[in-house]
Amino acid sequence: MKILTINGPNINFLGIREKNIYGQITYEEMCKYLKGEAEKLELDMDIVQSNIEGELVEYIQGAYNKYDGIIINPAAYTHYSIAILDALKAVALPTIEVHISNVHAREDFRKRSVIAPACIGQICGFGIYGYVMAMIGLINYYKGL
Ligand code: DQA
Repeated sequence: MKILTINGPNINFLGIREKNIYGQITYEEMCKYLKGEAEKLELDMDIVQSNIEGELVEYIQGAYNKYDGIIINPAAYTHYSIAILDALKAVALPTIEVHISNVHAREDFRKRSVIAPACIGQICGFGIYGYVMAMIGLINYYKGL
């Protein structure tokens, strides 16, 4: 099963930005960890990141007919990007939304996800392990569990 993990703005600054919220692990370390976990789950997973909304839309469109599912952390775009919502609806791939922090325990504007209607579900608050939970979520989705 081929999965595309897409990360939005400032996720490349993990390990530098607000460590009390997002943790100490750098983006590179996270990618290495997630690749290893994907391998253990026998998933063929690519990981991409962009700070630019249009590039995230292009990553989503590029997944059409190439990947079996998407794991996406659109970061701040979660809260207002209709373009990302529309792209996810357009490709209609099983998608899981992930947030490293518990967005529901933070500012009110983070509680709203405009992309949630295009996703199977949302995982937040479990740090980078949330991406692993999303991998298992996609496997179970295909198993019909
Ligand atoms: C985030 C939560 C967003 O509100 C924030 O803008 C981010 C990261 C998370 O992973 O917890 O950049 O998506």
